[in-house]
Amino acid sequence: GKDLEFTKALYKICELLDKKIDYYNWTGFYLVDGNNKLKVGPYIGEKTEHVEIEFGQGICGQAASTEKTFVISDVSKEDNYLSCSPKTKSEIVVPLFDKNGKIAGEIDIDSHEVNPFDEKDSELLEDICQLITERYL
Ligand code: SME
Repeated sequence: GKDLEFTKALYKICELLDKKIDYYNWTGFYLVDGNNKLKVGPYIGEKTEHVEIEFGQGICGQAASTEKTFVISDVSKEDNYLSCSPKTKSEIVVPLFDKNGKIAGEIDIDSHEVNPFDEKDSELLEDICQLITERYL
């Protein structure tokens, strides 16, 4: 049904991004699950122990609570950060909204490079989130 179609679409997006952009080294989704909680969704990359994240916690939780894109050029400079792999050097998180503008989740990308993300990355990922909103949310 609809849920499976949505999950497959998110996974397909992960595959495309992971394949096309070499500095995307963990590419996935977190989805809002219940009250002020994120649950890991489809992803490609190393297995993460952060399957559930509270709003406000880590970069993902901060992006969810502020509803803003976070671009972290060097994760070693952050105090509120949850490490998924010691290889990760940088991270971008873009919020995903439903059609009523309510936070529904986010795209999360980790890179093994320091400072690889620019406006092109935020624009691309924000456009993808907008398409997901229009089609599924
Ligand atoms: N680094 C994230 C946690 C998620 S893992 O990177 C997949 C954070 O600080 O919220």
